[in-house]
Formats: sequence, structure tokens, C-alpha cells
Amino acid sequence: MAKDKVEFVCSECGDSFAKWSGQCSSCKSWNCMSEVEVVSSSSGGASGGRFAGYAGEQIKVVALGEVEATQESQQSTGIGEVDRVLGGGLIQGSVVLIGGDPGIGKSTLLLQIMAKLSMSMEALYVTGEESLKQIAMRSKRLEVDSAKLNLLTETQAEKIIATSQKLKPKVMVVDSIQTIYTEELTSAPGSVAQVRESTARLVRYAKQTGTAIFLVGHVTKDGSLAGPRVLEHMVDTVLYFEGESGSRYRVIRAIKNRFGAVNELGVFAMTESGLKEISNPSAIFLAGHETPVAGTVTLVTKEGTRPLLVELQALVDESHLSNPRRVAVGLEQNRLAMLLAVLHRHSGVVTHDQDIFVNVVGGVKVVEPAADLAIILSIISSLKDRPTPDGTVVFGEIGLVGEVRPIPGGEERLREAAKLGFSRAIIPKANRPKKAIKGIEVIAVSRLSEAIAALF
Ligand code: TYD
Ligand code: MG
Repeated sequence: MAKDKVEFVCSECGDSFAKWSGQCSSCKSWNCMSEVEVVSSSSGGASGGRFAGYAGEQIKVVALGEVEATQESQQSTGIGEVDRVLGGGLIQGSVVLIGGDPGIGKSTLLLQIMAKLSMSMEALYVTGEESLKQIAMRSKRLEVDSAKLNLLTETQAEKIIATSQKLKPKVMVVDSIQTIYTEELTSAPGSVAQVRESTARLVRYAKQTGTAIFLVGHVTKDGSLAGPRVLEHMVDTVLYFEGESGSRYRVIRAIKNRFGAVNELGVFAMTESGLKEISNPSAIFLAGHETPVAGTVTLVTKEGTRPLLVELQALVDESHLSNPRRVAVGLEQNRLAMLLAVLHRHSGVVTHDQDIFVNVVGGVKVVEPAADLAIILSIISSLKDRPTPDGTVVFGEIGLVGEVRPIPGGEERLREAAKLGFSRAIIPKANRPKKAIKGIEVIAVSRLSEAIAALF
């Protein structure tokens, strides 16, 4: 093996550096740097030595106009919600990374997908984690017809590729990438170097042969395995499982997609016989209280292309700490701090002596700023111990000067809320629909103080 140099890679964010340090200067995590040998291109590695060997070769430059831009055909996976997050379906030669906590349902979902695909094409499921028997048992439990699905237990990348070259599958699963190693490197499977190098080999194989590959990546909090983030830039599509393992619902979010919209969500329920898709998920994340309770607000969020109603809950409680707690679950922590500052400056609501917890019910993550208004109103509701009126939905972004800013897709959100029987909406002025939407009264506000006055 030609070893030209080493670099240091952060196992959290995947950034690489020439020098080791205790803290990653990109993502600020601690103790996450590991040494990686840079394999030269002559030995077949993917990273490093990029310019070696090209000196005398003729490299052809092509004008963009001459490149055929035919839409690559998308193959349905047979599961609508998976097609949705993939941006329509599976594309030949694409590499899809599916990440998530252990036990959340990655192998289950992939076995369901592969069983469906194996009926119409050659499919190979490579596992480095489970025995063939375990997979057979799971397949029985899932009640899928997987008789034609090819299985392989193997962990060496070269052998996987060699087998695949013989079998020529159209679609392949590698479960999980952290168990795979390449003999090129001496480091242990699961290390950053191994995970990156094995992935590079599989990606190259996918591009050369047009095989679609699903890679499974475990997310481990303690960093004992190189996380899937290290691979995000190498693959075409990155899907993450969200949701609490205690809850029945599983949400898959497209974090990156070269073939479709990001932040698109697919919603599933984990049942006795595998993951069942929920193609109309608008209301499943609502808690449904019998009588109105203080501290909850219904938000219409729009992740990807579909509006979704979720319940935000806040608990504001007198604090005995010098540094009161601010905990955001499913929401951004920094955003919460900013909103509390706006609330203080522009509405005079004091919270510096209170612990504040906010949570999105059902384990969904809400990343868009359209949740701002709902977060603030749920906090005020809890602080004043006054429930928000029944049948009310809220959305809108809050600016630093206390203004309520418009957000994309206002009308669609209102329609979805009206469809589910909500009768009142507090929304940004600029989002007021031109024509009234049947069944829903719109209260359009331009300042945070107006929204508070309208509700309480
Ligand atoms: P699994 O797909 O093995 O998780 P991962 O590959 O992400 O680690 O997930 C399994 C969990 O789901 C496990 O705790 C059992 C549960 N499960 C069901 O509830 N129903 C089912 O039909 C199957 C196959 C698993
Ligand atoms: Mg698994």
C-alpha cells in the first residue's frame, strides 16, 4: 500500500485537517479527531493523491450543451412514502445513505423495500450484522415475499464488490457500512478511515455499473463508530430516521438529495409486521386533549412539500438555578434563546427566572422558522396558565425587532388546517390569502404583540 500522508478527520462532521487537535474547529465537538491514511490514487483509493497519474494523460473537456440531460428513470420502490423522500423513486447508479439510531427500523425498512424490488429485478442484500437466519425470521415476520432476494453475509468491501460483479444486481443494500472494511487499510472496521474508504469503493462501483446502493449507517451518540455524517458528501441522497424509539411513528427525512427536494418527510408507523406507511399524516402528531390545556399550541409546519399539523408544548416553571434551564426538544436551542430575548424586549414578558422546556409532540423535528410564533405563544400560554382557544392553529416567523414575518406556503397550510376542522388561524399579515378559505377565520398580524393580544 502506498502511504503518502495522513490527515485527521472529525468523526462528527467529516471535515479533515492537516493537524490533530482536541476540538474540531468546524463543528466544535471534542475528542472526535482520528488519524486517517490518505491512500494514493494508484492504489485505488478515493481520497488524496487526486492529481497524481494525470500528468501525461489526455483529458477530454465537454461543452455542457453536448451533454445529454435525459431525465434518469426513477424506479418505484413500491412504498409511496419512500419514493416521496427519494424524490420520486430509485435512480440507477445512485447511492442512498440511510442513517438513524440503532433499533429504529433501518433494516426492517430496507428488507421491505428489497423484497418488493426483488420481484422485478435482481436484488442483493449484504449484511455484516445479522445472520441469514435472523433475516429469514424478520422476513417471515414482515410477511413479505422475499423468496427471490439474494442474501450475502460479508464484511470485506472487495469481496462484496466481486460477488456483486458476478451477480449483477440492479439494487444492493449494505447493512451497515460500519461493519465493512477494506483490506487496503489496517485500521479497525467502524473507524473513520475504513468507513470512508469502503464507501468510496462502493460509490465508485455504483457509478461504474449503474447499480443503486442503499448504505445503512448507525448514529451513535458516544462516537464509538464513525457516524454517517462522515459520508454525507460522498453519497447522492442522505435519509435520516427521526422519532423516539418509544413512539410508534417513524419519520424519514431527506437531508440531502441530488434528485429531489430536501427536508421531504416520509411517515411510517412501526407495527407488528414492519413499517406501514402513513400517506396522510397531517394529524397523527396532534395529542388530542379532551379539554383545552395551557402550554400547547397547534402549528402547521410544512416540511418538504406537504403541510403537517404538529402540537408544540411548553412548560414554564419557576427556576431555582442561577442559570435557568432552556430545553428545546425537536426544535432549535439557539432559536429558543433568540425568541425569549425578542419576547422580553418587545412584549415585556420576563422569563429570566423561569425554567423553560419546549417540545414537539411525537418526536418530529421542526427546523423551519415558521414555528417561531407557535413557540412564543405556547410559552406565554404556559406562563400565564391560560389555554389557547380550541381549534386554533398558528404559524409565522418572528424577526428580531418583534415583527411577524411571512413564510412560504401560507395558503396551503391554511387549507390543510381547515380540512382537519380547525376554525381559526393566527398568521403573518403578508400570508393573508386573497380569497377567504372556507371554514377558517384568519387573524393576520404584523407584530408579536398583536398576536399575543389576539390570543389571550
Ligand atoms: P431494525 O430494523 O432491526 O433496526 P435497525 O436496523 O435500525 O437497527 O429494528 C427493529 C426494531 O423494530 C426492533 O426493536 C423490533 C421492532 N420491530 C417491530 O416492531 N415490528 C417488526 O415487524 C419488526 C421487523 C421489528
Ligand atoms: Mg439493523
